Amino acid sequence: MKNKSLISITDYSKEEYLRILSLAEEFEKEPNQRIAEGKVVASLFFEPSTRTRLSFESAINRLGAKVVGFADTNTSSGTKGESMVDTIKTVSCYVDLIVMRHSLEGAARLASEVASVPIINGGDGSNQHPTQCLLDLYSIKKTQGTLDNLDIALVGDLKYGRTIHSLAIAMSNFNTTFHLVSPESLKLPSSVKMYIKERNLKYYQYTEIQDAVDKVDILYMSRVQRERFLDIQDYEKVKNSCILDKSLLANVKSSMKVLHPLPRVNEININVDSTPYAYYFQQAKNGVFVRQALIALILGLK
Ligand code: CP
Repeated sequence: MKNKSLISITDYSKEEYLRILSLAEEFEKEPNQRIAEGKVVASLFFEPSTRTRLSFESAINRLGAKVVGFADTNTSSGTKGESMVDTIKTVSCYVDLIVMRHSLEGAARLASEVASVPIINGGDGSNQHPTQCLLDLYSIKKTQGTLDNLDIALVGDLKYGRTIHSLAIAMSNFNTTFHLVSPESLKLPSSVKMYIKERNLKYYQYTEIQDAVDKVDILYMSRVQRERFLDIQDYEKVKNSCILDKSLLANVKSSMKVLHPLPRVNEININVDSTPYAYYFQQAKNGVFVRQALIALILGLK
């Protein structure tokens, strides 16, 4: 994995996912391993973030590397008209690795084609969020003891949810049975469903969350991605379509966990937070260990 960019979850093999998860376990046991002293990592967030940016920056600091970058494009020379390509070419001269997020699908791939250092995609529009996917895999394995032969519900905005796309593709390597819950207008794109079909995996489609919740090991909730809609009225029609309330959890499997990449808006009632099924804040914590593992491997330090 040394010097290998991560733009789409399809860039890495199943064996590489498992290697990252195994190393993340080591970082969870001992997070402060200053193996990257002398390295500099850029954190370029052209689109807002809380978890991805801060967990990457925490990971970089815990590895002993330095972080440079911006969280607000208003403070970069993009405001003077500089292109993203020129920004990436320039920042490549200063650092050993670039972590970036952009609102345009394909931006991270383009960056990887012009950069002289590896790129990690922290989310590109509604396309992919591969590092979220790795921490989701880690969270699933940690809570279920395995990634194999699980029933997983993907709920909410399956059309625009980049975390959903990456996770559906990755889990199709593990003989998953998928339960796809969304309004009609937010179904999983055929370009993603293709990975499920190619492997002849079982999948079921629903519009109501209560039809899937009792059947699954993992209930992966997602926010309706308001910022991706061209017409706000279309968003208004679907924004309340898949909402999880504690009352829906009465007959779920005892080992079932609710995951969510966060941020949440209203799709998980806060009355779920105090149930034994809620795992979304621990999931966010796992992001630090997984990102430490990924950075260490790409920098050739492990
Ligand atoms: N899960 C996630 O990508 O969250 P942020 O948008 O806060 O980074």
